[in-house]
Amino acid sequence: MQSLTQGRTMASWTIPRPFVKWAGGKRQLVDLLLKNAPVSFNRYLEPFIGGGALLFNILPHNAIISDINPELINAYKVIAKDPEGLLASLRLHRNEEEYFYQVRGMDISNMSEIERASRFIFLNKTCFNGLYRENSKGKFNVPFGRYKNPNIDDGDNLRAISSYLNGSKIEILCQDYKTTAGMAKAGDFVYFDPPYHPISQTASFTRYAKGDFAASDQEALAETFHSLSKKGCHLMLSNSNVPFIRELYKEFNVIEIEASRFINCKADKRGKGLYEVLVKNYD
Ligand SMILES: C[S@@+](CC[C@H](N)C(=O)[O-])C[C@H]1O[C@@H](n2cnc3c(N)ncnc32)[C@H](O)[C@@H]1O
Repeated sequence: MQSLTQGRTMASWTIPRPFVKWAGGKRQLVDLLLKNAPVSFNRYLEPFIGGGALLFNILPHNAIISDINPELINAYKVIAKDPEGLLASLRLHRNEEEYFYQVRGMDISNMSEIERASRFIFLNKTCFNGLYRENSKGKFNVPFGRYKNPNIDDGDNLRAISSYLNGSKIEILCQDYKTTAGMAKAGDFVYFDPPYHPISQTASFTRYAKGDFAASDQEALAETFHSLSKKGCHLMLSNSNVPFIRELYKEFNVIEIEASRFINCKADKRGKGLYEVLVKNYD
């Protein structure tokens, strides 16, 4: 059994933070998520890990983290296995537009795991808004971000993440969320943070890798949520606050939460409102 604050108080090294900017990342909502998480649980499972904002705040000592994005999961694994090799490779990159497009266009099929992780982190730190988006052929297609001083080789943080992942029992897997959900047992805490259901037809971003997360995927996820709840898992899920999602989880505790959202294509036009829900199968 582990408690919500255990990892944080046991940490004696630099506290790790997400190493990538991630669309839908939960950094802004972490305090609220922590307030709503169960106080104690067996294992921690996060099947849509992305940047791992909640993971790095809970720092569970026994967990399974997974995502469908192979480049993201490869980066977690390389950070765990060889942070110094990764840092050496990251230091070779240059924050220059022409170089960025060269790296973006590289064929990754013959690259080593370190080279792939290094490319992935470099592109994330230097691309526009830290987005990860692929075209229909599965090729990363976000443009250069023109940042003055991106922190490409953040040694303190990568070493901190590596110590944490190695000092705890953390399984890192590249797989569909259903496979990870199938590994959950009674008493485990599972946090689901899927691609959100769009608020409008055009507004939201649901495409992280080849293939979308469609309405039928949201329905299938809700079925998984129902069956894990029957199994005796502690469950928490984030999504957008739309009637379709509220209907799928109406038997559970659905909390409408205030979040900011772009309401205009201009970056400064952010609107606050009850745009998201947090669903729990406990009080
Ligand atoms: C909203 S993001 C998670 C953000 C994360 N909580 C954070 O703090 O950065 C959703 C994630 O789900 C992943 N994903 C999309 N479809 C998936 C699937 N079928 N199975 C597992 N992961 C999936 C995406 O690659 C993306 O990383």
